[in-house]
Amino acid sequence: MSMREKLELLERRRAESEQGGGPERLAAQHTKGKLSARERLDALLDEGSFVELDRFVTHRSTDFGLAEQRVYGDGVVTGHGRIDGRLVYVFSQDFTVLGGSLSEAFAEKICKVMDLAVRNGAPVVGLNDSGGARIQEGVVSLGGYAEIFLRNTLASGVVPQVSAVLGPCAGGAVYSPAITDFIYMVRGTSYMFVTGPNVVKTVTHEDVTMEALGGADTHAATSGVSHFTHDSELACLQAIRELFRFIPQNNLAEPPRGAGTDPRDRRDEQLLDIVPDNANKPYDMHDVLRRVVDDGEFYEVHKEYAGNILVGFAHLGGHSVGVVANQPAVLAGVLDINASAKAARFIRFCDAFNIPLVTFEDVPGFLPGVAQEHGGIIKHGAKLLYAYCEATVPKLTVITRKAYGGAYDVMSSKHIRGDYNVAWPTAEIAVMGPKGAVEILFRKEIADAADAVAATDARVAEYSAKFANPYVAAGRGYVDDIIDPRETRPRLIDALDSLQGKRDRNPPRKHGNIPL
Ligand code: HXC
Repeated sequence: MSMREKLELLERRRAESEQGGGPERLAAQHTKGKLSARERLDALLDEGSFVELDRFVTHRSTDFGLAEQRVYGDGVVTGHGRIDGRLVYVFSQDFTVLGGSLSEAFAEKICKVMDLAVRNGAPVVGLNDSGGARIQEGVVSLGGYAEIFLRNTLASGVVPQVSAVLGPCAGGAVYSPAITDFIYMVRGTSYMFVTGPNVVKTVTHEDVTMEALGGADTHAATSGVSHFTHDSELACLQAIRELFRFIPQNNLAEPPRGAGTDPRDRRDEQLLDIVPDNANKPYDMHDVLRRVVDDGEFYEVHKEYAGNILVGFAHLGGHSVGVVANQPAVLAGVLDINASAKAARFIRFCDAFNIPLVTFEDVPGFLPGVAQEHGGIIKHGAKLLYAYCEATVPKLTVITRKAYGGAYDVMSSKHIRGDYNVAWPTAEIAVMGPKGAVEILFRKEIADAADAVAATDARVAEYSAKFANPYVAAGRGYVDDIIDPRETRPRLIDALDSLQGKRDRNPPRKHGNIPL
């Protein structure tokens, strides 16, 4: 065979390797509103940047008719490409080939790109669309999954790992995305569950649809398993591209700087009017965040879950930051089990990847109640405390209003290595709110008073004047300054600039033991 003939053969085989499971299965994929594995990579990566690896890999099985179903690539497209010019490793499962089921060879391809990502310090994006372990391969397939889980774990905190679930993701297969940093899902076509509706029906006699059991909205709002929900695959893949504007390549790299043009010294007059005069009235913390960060842009993570705390990325004077903010508009911004776990995980991502934390605080405390106590608010709240305590990235805190009780300590206080903590004049920093405090301290006096209401009001006024303000904390240096809210943005940017050289280390150890 001449070189030209050999090249023609190569071209034919390359073309064949891009056919996946063939035109009929591809059409079925499109009919379901899903893109093909390759179309997804086209949407995710910079145009023309994808470099495929292992396109000629096939499975090695012959059982149950597999010998006749040998397809180049074996149901997963792997390689690397660029997002905004930055290197990322990718795998994209192809449901048209044996339902995207995972074989030994399939797993080896994924492991190869994960190993390369760690070695070269680049993120991994996995696009999942699979019927799970390839049944015909039995335990070999299970072994393949375990190899991936191990790599997910070892890569955690070394390179960012992002999962999009764009079809079924069932059984033990869910645990690979679950270990990664962020999960994206698409309404109507993504499903994640350990056991599907049929098994649920058999075991617990519950009737439940795929969507209700493990659809995108369920995991966004109820289980908290996923972080982002989109209406289409294209929107989902575009959102993953956007995420990369905030996160670094690896744990030794700096996050990318924002390209915005928002003036660093911009003061915002509206910040004077957001916090209501009445301390019991809610307001939307989004209004504060948008007025402080660059161009009002807040890339919110876990938006539909535990709305009493907000987490997400932004740029501040071009610095990439992770924002954690109590949300007075939902449950008065109280800390509960879900909010604690949500914020703790986000804080740990930011700390692992050199992203400074900016905390906006307005928190009445931890949520009281039997359900919370029995649900383990003690251990879950401890996760948040632990995450803030161990974080060594720059930590900035703005107390806009309430900072009460244990929540004051937890929310990145000075005592747990907050670098720059400031309060607005509206801040109330104390063990508890005035009414609760007065009812405990002066119970007898109020009970004996001829006019209990007047007696309470008098004591509340006295307590408020003494404690419900930021001056006691400022007098101790527990906040570094009390600032004009309009200056919040320039103050934070200045602090971020000065903390660029921050050096802080935790004691050497194998690993801590965060309360799980
Ligand atoms: C081999 C599989 C497969 C699998 C699907 N296919 N799942 N082949 N192993 N796990 C094949 C089908 O035979 C079919 O082949 C093609 O993929 C498309 O599947 P359909 O069933 O026609 O598609 P659909 O109706 O869309 O249903 C999708 C599905 C269903 C819900 C995912 O296929 C399904 O329930 N599959 C099994 C899921 C499962 O139980 N997997 C094991 C989970 S346990 P043809 O030739 O007809 O096109 C697990 C353990 C992980 O994964 C262990 C980690 C610890």
